[in-house]
Amino acid sequence: MATISSQPAKAIAKSYGQNIETDLALEFLRVVENAAIASAKTMGQGDRKYADQVATEAMRKTMDTVPMNGRIVIGEGERDEAPMLYIGEKVGAEFPDGTKVPEIDIAVDPLEGTNLCATGSPGAITVLAASEKGGLLHAPDCYLDKIVVGPSCKGCVDLDAPVADNLNNIAKRLERDVEDLVVVVLDRPRHEKLIADIRKAGARIKLITDGDLSPGIAAAVIGAGVHAVMGSGGAPEGVLTAAAIRCLNGYMVGRLMLTKPEQEERVHKMGIKDVKRIYTAEDLAPGKHIIFAATGVTEGALMRPVRFFGEGARTSSIVLTLNTGKVRFIESIHLEKKPDVKVRFA
Ligand code: FBP
Repeated sequence: MATISSQPAKAIAKSYGQNIETDLALEFLRVVENAAIASAKTMGQGDRKYADQVATEAMRKTMDTVPMNGRIVIGEGERDEAPMLYIGEKVGAEFPDGTKVPEIDIAVDPLEGTNLCATGSPGAITVLAASEKGGLLHAPDCYLDKIVVGPSCKGCVDLDAPVADNLNNIAKRLERDVEDLVVVVLDRPRHEKLIADIRKAGARIKLITDGDLSPGIAAAVIGAGVHAVMGSGGAPEGVLTAAAIRCLNGYMVGRLMLTKPEQEERVHKMGIKDVKRIYTAEDLAPGKHIIFAATGVTEGALMRPVRFFGEGARTSSIVLTLNTGKVRFIESIHLEKKPDVKVRFA
């Protein structure tokens, strides 16, 4: 039998930590896949907190097998309100031989769309973004008013412009009529005027009950049936959206919306001086290296749900990397080690 030279292995070890995207993209895939499998088992049980808890536990456990010196910068809340994946928590594993592991900042939403999972409705995903230290804005727990569009619409939308003007600009760039656009909006009383304005302008609307991160990704993928996402959602979800948008060459503008006095204090503590600042995706996720990974829990436009088939589970994920420019749609079959296992092609 031929002997494999130890050179390639040595070279891999030597280069470890020089390109976090190639080192860690598939590691983070495991993290979102395991969280998706755990939460999908609770689908339709009507318990959103439990669905989130099992996703968080699975994510946390898997993160501690990833070779990195990781720090949660967006997570389940502050240390006193979340038992794990709280902001500032350290995650990751070291190599036994002391090979240096990279410093990584991580934004997580272990289960985005907890209600959707609890009711078995489309759109629940497990998701994270990672970057070198300082590559993701430390977003406060408030809303972010935003517009998300695809690569053809760069620079053509403005948060302060009338809705009809933005829609006309998007339609022009996409070489279609405003009537042919599909805009996704969270169905909330705070969006009453926005929805009325979109209707008046003539565009079609997809009102969603929860989960505005998935449509944000879809807006940057041609053929996914979403041309824009408008309105406010969670600021942490906004940063995660920005990470994906950067990898997909899309465009996004956002502005923090502070609704409680304590949020203002928190934002200042975080060093954000201008609370009215308009952020682009590059401001929200400024990293040179970005990894974005998400797995479908329930059915979605880009990812299929977790499917259980007795001998294991099948997951559908996307993994995006900025610097290495990869957009991966990944189907994984997770086998329980049974001797008579059967794998089906599709
Ligand atoms: P959860 O996953 O925490 O349930 O949040 C889902 C979500 O719908 C997000 O997608 C969205 O950004 C945010 O909540 C909107 O918040 P609100 O429900 O307060 O309008």
